[in-house]
Amino acid sequence: MNTTETIKEEQTFTMPRIGDKAPEFKAVTTQGGINYPSDYKGKWSILFSHPADFTPVCTSEFMTFAHLEEKFEKANCSLIGLSIDGLYSHIAWLRTIKDKIEFNGMKNIEVKFPLIEDISMEVAKKYGMIQPGESKTQAVRAVFFVDPNEIVRAIIYYPLSLGRNFDELYRALIAMQTADKFNVATPADWNPGDDVIVSPAGSCGVAEERMSSTEGLDCKDWFFCTKKLDKDLVLDSILKK
Ligand code: BEZ
Repeated sequence: MNTTETIKEEQTFTMPRIGDKAPEFKAVTTQGGINYPSDYKGKWSILFSHPADFTPVCTSEFMTFAHLEEKFEKANCSLIGLSIDGLYSHIAWLRTIKDKIEFNGMKNIEVKFPLIEDISMEVAKKYGMIQPGESKTQAVRAVFFVDPNEIVRAIIYYPLSLGRNFDELYRALIAMQTADKFNVATPADWNPGDDVIVSPAGSCGVAEERMSSTEGLDCKDWFFCTKKLDKDLVLDSILKK
């Protein structure tokens, strides 16, 4: 492989990591041009890819995302889709979805969030959405959660054949916002109203205090302390009215 081929090959595998600034790009979308992530500064965003327009799993996902868009917006989060298709394919597909497709009790669904055309694969390559072992021409189902400071906070990947779990995407968004707001961590399967994890003791003194504290902490051991966090307090502080 010569140097140019090596660089091209490496670009295919480039992907941002959790904690990185979200890579910048300009794109054409079904809602006009966007500059990402700067257009979304001050908001959370979910940038996600799908393999192709006019495919059934992708259609079911788009209908579900569109149906939930208002719920995500209430949590200060915008949605942005992408596939390696052209703008006119995107437009035709979204029109077909609205006019003809029924899924899970949803019909007449209008996709109002932007869908990026990425026929050049520029964005897909920047975000590691092409996983050549799975497909060299279609993006896998990647999900990037980017916070109001333009930092990548979580990344979830699914293969081509597996439709995403939208309860989990929403749960992850709310859990990260809760962790930021209340300076806590969230345990396995956490949902608002469940107990949260208090950050680990960083010294022997704090470990001792934790074990003898009666201030609302439930410590099973010095490193495993939880506390109650009221569901309404969480949701009132995160969701727009
Ligand atoms: C689908 O969206 O149905 C699909 C796309 C690519 C491969 C397999 C399924």
